[in-house]
Amino acid sequence: MPADRLSTGIVSVDRLLDGGLETDSLTEIYGEGGSGKTLFCLDVAVRVAREGRWVFYIDTEGVSVDRLRAVAGDGLDRILKRFLLSTPTNLEEQERAVATACALAREGKRPVGLLVVDSGTHFYRLSLSGPDEDDARQALSLGVADLVVTSLKAHVPAILTNQVWRSVRDGTLEPLGGSFLNHAAKTILRFDRLPGNRRRVVLVKHRSLPEGSADFRITPTGLEGP
Ligand code: GTP
Ligand code: MG
Repeated sequence: MPADRLSTGIVSVDRLLDGGLETDSLTEIYGEGGSGKTLFCLDVAVRVAREGRWVFYIDTEGVSVDRLRAVAGDGLDRILKRFLLSTPTNLEEQERAVATACALAREGKRPVGLLVVDSGTHFYRLSLSGPDEDDARQALSLGVADLVVTSLKAHVPAILTNQVWRSVRDGTLEPLGGSFLNHAAKTILRFDRLPGNRRRVVLVKHRSLPEGSADFRITPTGLEGP
């Protein structure tokens, strides 16, 4: 595995990504509800915390402690000691939480192994087509830019999950967040639902790898390759 990768713990996905997530750039994950974005973030976060590094996790949707417990097993208490969890209730608070997490990561006083914003576009979506749309776009862009710079400078992988809208033209699922986010994220993954507990990760964009896909399964204790 290249040194600049963070293993996802899912063999098929690591193979797709030549070892895992890039540690100096932003990874965007988009996909419809229930496609596994949150479970993936929790799975990777638990791996990082288990190794003793800090996870800064910004959760806009109410992370399931039950689910975290299932993934973490007996080690939940120890893992929670390495979790800095923020639960913003609007986009302004989200932007402040991102700024704080990024500043702490760049400061380097404690070993930070992962930055997560899940979902990055929940509050943004609520502002679309309203009077605050421009402010929302700006707040999202600032947060994304902060994640990009921090990941690069502090060598901390960053994940931002993104919601989707369905194109009326051809019915495809498109990510929110506009072209800025699509350029800022150096890796873009789309999660698709397959029957039952199966899911597919499609590598939509990467700066050094071809497009491709990998499957995984949702199990009671985490995510696994096929
Ligand atoms: P949104 O946040 O709504 O966009 O969805 P998401 O992409 O974050 O989906 P999430 O990661 O929350 O995945 C939820 C999927 O995992 C759903 O299909 C659930 O049915 C499934 N799921 C959640 N908990 C469990 C579990 O303990 N066991 C199994 N087998 N499936 C689970
Ligand atoms: Mg989710």
